[in-house]
Amino acid sequence: MKVLLTGATGYVGKLVCAGLGQRWDMVGVSAHADEAQGLYRCDLADAEQVRLLSQRIVPDVIIHAAGDKNLARCEASPSAAYLANVQTTINLAQSFPDARIIYISSDYVFPGDRGGYREDDPLGPVTVYGRTKACAELAGLTLSERFYVLRLSALYDGNATFLRFVRESLMRGDTVNCFEDAFYSPTYYGDFLIVLERLVEAPVLARRIYHACGQRISRYFFAKIFARASNLEQSLIRQSSRLSENAPFIFSDISLENTLTCESLDVSVGRHQEYLSFLELHS
Ligand SMILES: NC(=O)c1ccc[n+]([C@@H]2O[C@H](COP(=O)([O-])OP(=O)(O)OC[C@H]3O[C@@H](n4cnc5c(N)ncnc54)[C@H](OP(=O)(O)O)[C@@H]3O)[C@@H](O)[C@H]2O)c1
Repeated sequence: MKVLLTGATGYVGKLVCAGLGQRWDMVGVSAHADEAQGLYRCDLADAEQVRLLSQRIVPDVIIHAAGDKNLARCEASPSAAYLANVQTTINLAQSFPDARIIYISSDYVFPGDRGGYREDDPLGPVTVYGRTKACAELAGLTLSERFYVLRLSALYDGNATFLRFVRESLMRGDTVNCFEDAFYSPTYYGDFLIVLERLVEAPVLARRIYHACGQRISRYFFAKIFARASNLEQSLIRQSSRLSENAPFIFSDISLENTLTCESLDVSVGRHQEYLSFLELHS
């Protein structure tokens, strides 16, 4: 199986390389990659560069994990966000018509007002980032019959930015304010890799859209569980409200639901508590 991984130098891409890189004949690509390290360097927003890339490699599957997920930067420059998230996707779908493309998308394609979003729920993004991710999904699904969407909530391993921040703050003895009125469904990286592996290897896929997510939880409780699992001082985690702070990109409930994915791919999801304890044991 020849797999092309876009965004190979990013957070998602590195987890995919580390977890599944040996399983397939995988090669990575990114905008500023060092070709001396065995990666391809290509600005995927440039159609001509992507066409040339398609002459260098003929993958069975493309895992498209390149993009810009920085919400503030996307708001500040919608055209750059469009290039990074939408144009890259269009170029790949057009230049690799025979490859199965698995597009790494996001919970932000939903409005974040009620949570429990299913794979087949209507989209309703309210941020520039979310709009570009939704637009990329629709473009890809329209352009290629072999295009599949895999939506993630905030992805975590032991090095996730949020967990690192909480760990370092608590170790310094600082308090950490976390929203008790903001729910999401963070994705444990092990669950993500299992779903991704199925999407790459299944001879036939019954659905076009999948969710890899964990159980619904508030940001406050997620931090609490992490502190407990890491034997750090839980009392330093304090409840705060998104309504009393300036948090334009944090929604009341942007959690995903994954019943259709679990049934279709025969996968299941564990508890954050177990995952966070496991990560702590192996840190
Ligand atoms: N991280 C999460 O929790 C999460 C959750 C849901 C969805 N996602 C999605 O997953 C994708 C990757 O997220 P991430 O956390 O890995 O982001 P990241 O760490 O910022 O990495 C972004 C990657 O995309 C590459 N890239 C950006 N624009 C490119 C272009 N024009 N041409 C080629 N490569 C380009 C970057 O390459 P260079 O480094 O070489 O510039 C880098 O490898 C995003 O699309 C995001 O929407 C992530």
